[in-house]
Amino acid sequence: MQNTYPTHPVLIQGGMGIAVSDWKLARTVAQKGQLGIVSGTAINSVLVRRLQDGDPQGDTRRALKAFPSQEIAQKILDTFFIEGGRPKTQPYKRALMYGINSSKVLLQQTVAAAFVEVWLAREGHSGKVGINLLEKIQLPNLACLYGAMLAGVDYVIMGAGIPREIPGALDKLSVNETASLKVGVEGQDEDAITYFNPNEVMENTTLVSLKRPYFFPIVSSAVLAKNLKLKSTGRVDGFIVEGPLAGGHNAPPRGPMKLNDLGEPIYGERDVVSLEDMKALELPFWMAGYYATPEKLKDVQAQGAHGIQVGTLFAFSDESGVALEHRQFAIEQIKNNPPPEGGWIFTDPRSSPTGFPFKAARFPGTISEEKHYLARTRICDLGYLRHAYKKEDGTIGQRCPAEPVKDYLKKGGLEEDTVGRKCLCNALMADVGMGQIQANGQPELPLLTAGDDLNNIVRMIKPGKSSYSATDVIDYLLA
Ligand SMILES: Cc1cc2nc3c(=O)[nH]c(=O)nc-3n(C[C@H](O)[C@H](O)[C@H](O)COP(=O)(O)O)c2cc1C
Repeated sequence: MQNTYPTHPVLIQGGMGIAVSDWKLARTVAQKGQLGIVSGTAINSVLVRRLQDGDPQGDTRRALKAFPSQEIAQKILDTFFIEGGRPKTQPYKRALMYGINSSKVLLQQTVAAAFVEVWLAREGHSGKVGINLLEKIQLPNLACLYGAMLAGVDYVIMGAGIPREIPGALDKLSVNETASLKVGVEGQDEDAITYFNPNEVMENTTLVSLKRPYFFPIVSSAVLAKNLKLKSTGRVDGFIVEGPLAGGHNAPPRGPMKLNDLGEPIYGERDVVSLEDMKALELPFWMAGYYATPEKLKDVQAQGAHGIQVGTLFAFSDESGVALEHRQFAIEQIKNNPPPEGGWIFTDPRSSPTGFPFKAARFPGTISEEKHYLARTRICDLGYLRHAYKKEDGTIGQRCPAEPVKDYLKKGGLEEDTVGRKCLCNALMADVGMGQIQANGQPELPLLTAGDDLNNIVRMIKPGKSSYSATDVIDYLLA
């Protein structure tokens, strides 16, 4: 089975949002002949904050120069670019928030942002680059996919949900046709629909046909993989099989949620994916979640996997988007201090507004500490994890269980849904050095997500060194 799909790389550097797997990391990996994945999550906020930080090396502006609509690129620069960068105490001007019918300006910014990220990751080499999106964050996804395709993205990888409609949407977008996605409305049987029309959004631009990228959904069971293969709206090209030890969001355990003494979800036999069953689907697949050793790579290849997807090791490498101070702090903590009971990672069944378990490192100074979480004034000003709900007047609104409790209740949400929820949008922006200063002067604090492999990352650090590169990770895994 090994090498049956010679055109696909063996190693996939997993997509890591927000901007942890940014274009620099993806480019490094792609240049080494493996698959570099940029994160598309909240990419419009990443773009507008980079511009407000002055785009010191000029990369973002160089990519915007290559954007097919210079009219749109110029509008973005006029709105957000600050020569020399904003003073560090000045809050960022926020991007607009998405709705079922997002404004054209916001969709244009989203297309441009995904374009910039993929364009930079692909610049100057012929390696392969993909984009990762979360199915749960539905509203920006079509614009994001289109922007990535305008930049020639080779792969689309999508998790945190069942992305059955994406393959068909990719087919439509590749010929500049209107694509649509069903958007679940909480408590309602009927879905809402969000549309993206390339011709309308890219006004005054001559559009040409685009390459249709490979599409790999992320699955946590072979049954789901089979369902996606057979019932998607178009071609599925392979799968990432992700287990519960992976960084970021995890699929909930099968059956009723049971917690261990520390309060983490308990996974069992039913959550183990059979490689035999995956092999039977006759599509290439990569294993993800605590597979990042050369031995495990060989082992899963021997059982029919094409390779592995790796996140945590790359997230703490030199090229990662995680702010240098947080990366260094993490490495020092792990090197010099014994881990708390249960290890450095806590799988929190409550923190994510998506309702999926979410892993975070138990580092001081982050909102994984109860005192920091409680001291933060709740605010929802980025809104990527909001859910659609039906308002009393019949229109569709958006609400997030991590927003101020009184607002959530006013929108008909239940108080119990707000308990323990964390604003991942703001915390993850802080991880990559783009944290907001809120109106009350409070800076948003980070919440570093990582997989259980975080406990072992010091294996990558060579004697006399205090960090490691993405290239070190690839050389180690392919040794
Ligand atoms: C910091 C971090 C952020 C992540 N964010 C995402 C994400 O936005 N989307 C996604 O599909 N997977 C995400 N993941 C999962 C990775 O893409 C990858 O599948 C996983 O990390 C592989 O397991 P490992 O951490 O043991 O290497 C994230 C992982 C990390 C460490």
